[in-house]
This record gives sequence, structure tokens and C-alpha cells, in this order.
Amino acid sequence: MNSEEFFKKIVSHAKEYGFIYPSSDLYDGLAAVYDYGPNGVELKNNIKQYWWRSMTQMHENIVGVDSAIFMHPKIWKASGHVDAFNDPLIDNKDSKKRYRADVLIEDHIAKIEEKINKEITKAKKRFGDSFNEEQFLATSERVKGYKQQMEDIHQRFADLMNANDLAGLKSLIEELGIVCPISGTRNWTDVRQFNLMFSTKMGSVSDDSDIIYLRPETAQGIFVNYLNVQKTNRMKIPFGIAQIGKAFRNEIVARQFIFRMREFEQMEMEFFCRPGTEMEWFNYWKEERMNWHLALGIPKEKYRYHDHEKLAHYANAATDIEFDFPFGFKELEGIHSRTDFDLKRHQEFSGRKIQYFDAELNESYTPYCVETSIGLDRTFLAVFSHAFNEETLQDGSTRIVLNLPKQLAPYKVSVLPLVNKDGLPEMAHGIFNDLKFNMRAHYEEKDTIGKRYRRQDAIGTPYCITVDNDSLKDNSVTIRLRDTMQQERVSVDNIKSYIAAH
Ligand code: GAP
Repeated sequence: MNSEEFFKKIVSHAKEYGFIYPSSDLYDGLAAVYDYGPNGVELKNNIKQYWWRSMTQMHENIVGVDSAIFMHPKIWKASGHVDAFNDPLIDNKDSKKRYRADVLIEDHIAKIEEKINKEITKAKKRFGDSFNEEQFLATSERVKGYKQQMEDIHQRFADLMNANDLAGLKSLIEELGIVCPISGTRNWTDVRQFNLMFSTKMGSVSDDSDIIYLRPETAQGIFVNYLNVQKTNRMKIPFGIAQIGKAFRNEIVARQFIFRMREFEQMEMEFFCRPGTEMEWFNYWKEERMNWHLALGIPKEKYRYHDHEKLAHYANAATDIEFDFPFGFKELEGIHSRTDFDLKRHQEFSGRKIQYFDAELNESYTPYCVETSIGLDRTFLAVFSHAFNEETLQDGSTRIVLNLPKQLAPYKVSVLPLVNKDGLPEMAHGIFNDLKFNMRAHYEEKDTIGKRYRRQDAIGTPYCITVDNDSLKDNSVTIRLRDTMQQERVSVDNIKSYIAAH
């Protein structure tokens, strides 16, 4: 199965099993907006909780906020989003399709990388066991040529982006012979800047002063509450403020399912520190965040850092944690050293003094800030796509199983009476009612037991508890493990300890 087919399977599985539906499905959907179904919302909430607890509960100097989506319009002027939160767009005159100029170039570079991968696959076949990939990459003239091409394009692209040279971007697209995937032609318009913020009006008087933006990041809700939080919670530097919430961006190219959405959720943390210590904290959070991902049990080969060449207007260092999605390595989380840019700008635009008196140094300063910013929906996609497995069993049949990290699974346990009679549903309900206080439990009595097991596999439930006729006599049940399908007889009194130990 190639990666495109695999990705299609994931999207349809997500819908079929109540994880994610297109928004406004009844009306054929709304581009790049999605709804989470009953199983999806459980998984999403578990991811949120895993992040929230690791940030707040596990760090004595991090507290949370939940700020409003609507904020004073001046905030977005101060943050730079009104003037600089743009993507370069380009239209193909024949297909009338719109693209991000930077994405067209990045896709072109990715195609060259694919050629390198093909060379590796061919060489592996040719050399068999004696194949040494490192040596091959260092010596193959063809691979070296491709690598040089990638580096050259990358450098020119970064220079043009940094210089905001839109005409240069168009020339590069033409020079690389990039064609529109729909029309197949090179008939491009000029490149233009496009602001990604959605706006609406607040109140009944409609003039420009009423324009309200839907926040494109949750971070500004933290910066404008810096003083409130620092004072009311008596926070001492260094300290962090965490927030989970919706963000909105009018993405030009909205594609790849929940990877790039117009309405999405972010989990952001702004860590305020002494000026001059920001690189130390930047490195600390880089490592800490990678460890958070790895603690989910997903192999480390699926993650990599990508340091930014073009820094955002507020940053003096930035890196992405990229994940190997079904469509390749892409950004999952950003870690930015945002300097004192945001607090200084809000000081300037609000006219309010934003300073911290550092008693140890006996001086006041504007704190510096290191940000960790992760997309909740992208984390969902990463976890979900990695967990999705189609297995061929010993008897030749197949099963689809979501090998989700146990702590994130929508349901921890499903309680299943073998048949819907003879007092089994009553006993099973009793077990369900006992477990529900400790974990998200599920109860189901419809269909054969085999079908019910498969359904629980498909939504990632780690434990199925079956109540059969013997259960009435010996007060024990069968517990089936999702990943191994192994079954064990366990006394009802030991169910919780069994689950805790497996
Ligand atoms: N406050 C910094 C900030 O917003 P960003 O790199 O633009 O930085 C942070 O966004 C994270 O938010 C990204 O790493 C990604 O996971 C998520 N994200 C950004 N745009 C998104 C979109 N259109 N759809 C889904 N997630 C998105």
C-alpha cells in the first residue's frame, strides 16, 4: 500500500469509527474544517489532558489561563499579525487554483528527496546484505548531485523569503519548471501576500474601529495577561503560562485532512525568563518537549528537529519538532525564543508598563520568553496515523487495530456479556458500574463477541472484559488484550489491579 492509499484509509477509518467527520457533512462539508465524533473527542481530550498535566502539574512554576478568542484589535497590530502574518500566494491562470508559493517550492525540493530515496532502494536491492547506506550516500555521484540541487534551491528560497522578494519567488518557480498539479501548465500570476487572519465586526456600528480578528494563535492571550498572572499568582521568574484553545487561520492551501485546518486548536506555553538566559531555556524546552513526545511510546525515528532558517519577526531562535506523517516529515510543534518582543510591543501599544522587578538582581526588566506551541489536531493525526495498523492474522484473516498509547485510548476498557441473556448483562453492568469511577469504560451487548472484539480493536480499546456463563459461577472474567489478542481468566476482584499491571 503506498502512502497515499494509507492516508485515505486513515481518513475513512476516522469517519467510519466516529473519530472525525467533515464539518457540515450534511451540506457536503466546509473546506478544512472538521468535527470530532464521540471517539475522537475522547482521544482529543486525553491528549489535552496529557499535555496540560505535563505542563502544569509536573512543573511547579507553570500555571494556566483560558483567555477569550475575541481580543482588542490593537493586540494584533502590536503583535505584528496585521502587518506581517502573511503567506505568499500564486494562482495558476488555467486551473484558477491558488497555491502557496513557498509550498510549491518545498514540494519541489521534497520530490528531489524522493529521488534520493529511490536511489537508496535500488542500491539496497543491488548490494543486498553488504549495503552500507551511509557510505552510499557519501559516494554516489548521482545522490551527491541531487543533494547539491536541494541545498541550492533551499538557500535561494530562504534568501528570497527573508528579503520578502515576491518577484524573485515567481522567477524561481518558473525556473524550476514547477507546473500546476491540476492544469499541468506553468501559466502563473505574480506572487502576492495574503493575510491569514479572519475578521468580523463587533457591536452594531459598522466602521473600521469595530473590526475584531479571530485569534490566529492563543499566545497573545497569554502575553496580554502576563501582568495579571504574575501579580495575582505571585509568580517568580522563571515561570510559564500555559493555554489550550482554538485558533483560526484563513489558510490558502487547506489540505491533508486535519493537518492544515482553518479552525484548529493549539496547546501553547510561554516561559518567561531573565534576559540573557533565553538560549539556555530554549535548549531546555527543546529537549523537554521531545521527551514528552517520546514518552508516548512512538519510536524516536518518527521525530526530528528542523531548525528555522527564516525566523519569524519576533524570534531569535526557532526549531520545529517534525513528525513522519503519512505524507512525510512535517511540523508538529514549534519552539521559539520570542525575546522580549511581545511584552515590549504590548507595553508600547497599551501604554502600560510591563516590567518585572527581580529581587535577586535588584533590577527591573522586560522578561524574555521561550514558547512551546503544538497543534492539538496535528498531535491527534500523528498519534492516530501511527496507531493505525492492518494486520494479517495466522488464519489468514485481517484485522484493523489502533495500537494507541493506552493512556490516550478513547475507552480504556469495554465490558461485554457473551450473550444477551441468562443474567450475563446484569453481571457485566455491575462490573461496568464499578469500573466507570476509575476509568473511561464502555459497555456493549450487540453482535457476536468476535465482531465486538474487532470493533474495540478498531477504536483502540486496550482491554475487553468478557462475562460468560462460568463468570456467574466462579466470579471471574476473560480479559483480552488489544495488541496481542492474548486472553486471560481474571477474578472480578482483581480486574483493576490486572489492568494497572498490563
Ligand atoms: N504561537 C506560535 C505559533 O502559532 P505556529 O508554528 O504558526 O506558531 C504552532 O503554530 C503550531 O500550531 C504548529 O506547529 C502546528 O502544530 C499548529 N498549527 C498551525 N497552523 C495550523 C493549521 N492551519 N492547522 C492545524 N494546526 C496548525
